[in-house]
Amino acid sequence: MRVETLRWAHDKLEMIDQRILPAEFRYLSYDSAASVAAGIQSMVVRGAPAIGVAAAYGVALEALRCQTASASEFTRCMDAGLAELARSRPTAVNLSWALQRMRRVWDGVAHGAPAKIAARLLDEAHEILAEDIRINRALGAHGAALLADGARVLTHCNAGALATAGHGTALGVIRSAVAAGKTISVIADETRPFLQGARLTAWEMVQEQIPVTLITDSMAGHMMAEGEVDAVIVGADRVAANGDVANKIGTYMVAVLARRHRIPFYVACPLSTLDLTIASGLDIPIEERHADEVRGFRECRWAADGVKIRNPAFDVTPAELVTAIITERGVVHRPDAPQLRRMGESL
Ligand code: MRU
Repeated sequence: MRVETLRWAHDKLEMIDQRILPAEFRYLSYDSAASVAAGIQSMVVRGAPAIGVAAAYGVALEALRCQTASASEFTRCMDAGLAELARSRPTAVNLSWALQRMRRVWDGVAHGAPAKIAARLLDEAHEILAEDIRINRALGAHGAALLADGARVLTHCNAGALATAGHGTALGVIRSAVAAGKTISVIADETRPFLQGARLTAWEMVQEQIPVTLITDSMAGHMMAEGEVDAVIVGADRVAANGDVANKIGTYMVAVLARRHRIPFYVACPLSTLDLTIASGLDIPIEERHADEVRGFRECRWAADGVKIRNPAFDVTPAELVTAIITERGVVHRPDAPQLRRMGESL
């Protein structure tokens, strides 16, 4: 079964509601930039590439919504929509990457009638979605070559089909290795507090009958010490020019443990996740989410009222802990600024 995380249907964007998986499977429908921005903020859609694709559709939807307005009203509407989308989540650079690409397309046809602009922007959103799947397949093939037959691969968060337009990045590597005939098993960190590993990665692997074992985040070190992990593969929300990697909170801990146990630590991401404007991970904005996500889950509250809570949603793994970054253009071993600059500039 191919998971269609986002799809265009009935002149609207539909997205799987990832807040309620796997208990329920339902699509929600979106018809404006503001509604897509709210869907991104509330994590109906999440994962860096999927956020980028959703934002691109948000721009196209706003153009369609305002296409009968005067040229000046259309421009006002679009500027507001783009700004709202840009504010929805700060860490994944794929969001601003997609918005900049959509703005360039708009600039290129800005002299035309709003309806023509809207049609062109919708085409571009469709292309970004299709391209993301192609990129993940290419990246998956490069990464699959790094995994030995029989490898037991630990992953953190969800960098699967649900985090992209399809196939996935970290899970894309696993899918491609399995498709190439390798026997691969997955160890999924549950990934507190939003449980992307327990709810989403485990679900995706079960759907495809790829063997998966769920552990709590605190069990990763023990599993490595017991010799039960051959490789770690994670996704990324932003890679700085020097190779520092921002990804789901807890990734840094896993990378430190992997180095301690001499286990390769791979990062799989499209080149749109590379931010050459940022020198190091110190400059990556880290989203701080609502305390309720840590205080409990849904209706259940387990922490005392009044307790101080922190909820940084991402952390930064220094480049020195990264064995290789797997991209659609190939694998960057021991990533550093010169190699990443060459890779980024080859686009
Ligand atoms: O908060 P989320 O669920 O959007 O965080 C997602 C991650 O950290 C993923 O690992 C990352 O975006 C890569 S997805 C291919």
